[in-house]
Amino acid sequence: MRSLRSGSHPLAALSEREYQPYSDFLLHDMGAAADGIAEGGAAPREMRTAPLWGLHRVGSPRLWHDGRAKTLEAAVLLHDGQGAAARAAFAELAPEARGQLLAFLATL
Ligand code: HEM
Repeated sequence: MRSLRSGSHPLAALSEREYQPYSDFLLHDMGAAADGIAEGGAAPREMRTAPLWGLHRVGSPRLWHDGRAKTLEAAVLLHDGQGAAARAAFAELAPEARGQLLAFLATL
């Protein structure tokens, strides 16, 4: 999910603002790519969607909840469970389109 809208806040700059976190901040079943730990209301296979906003600031990536993905490409290819279809679609992209997507992610 690209855009979200903030709720009401006393600071006008934060109130009712459209922003682009590129996340839904929801828990998703990530299958074998999850940590297997039940935490609060999250089941062992559920992980919260990381915001992609800010990826341009990641110098030497340690992505995923445990830093196991060393590149953006590796992170996308880790998706399992509810993210498996996105992983498969990415894997099927032609090299040029794949490069364009990775270049876009690096601008967020
Ligand atoms: C083209 C589609 C997608 C791209 C490019 C993408 C990209 C990424 C990247 C780069 C990360 C690592 C972020 C970080 O560690 O800071 C990530 C994490 C995550 N993504 Fe996606 N994603 C996509 C689709 C999806 C879908 C469809 C779902 C679920 C329905 C999903 C759920 C998650 C979750 C739960 C995490 C956090 C995983 C963890 O840390 O264990 N993603 N995604």
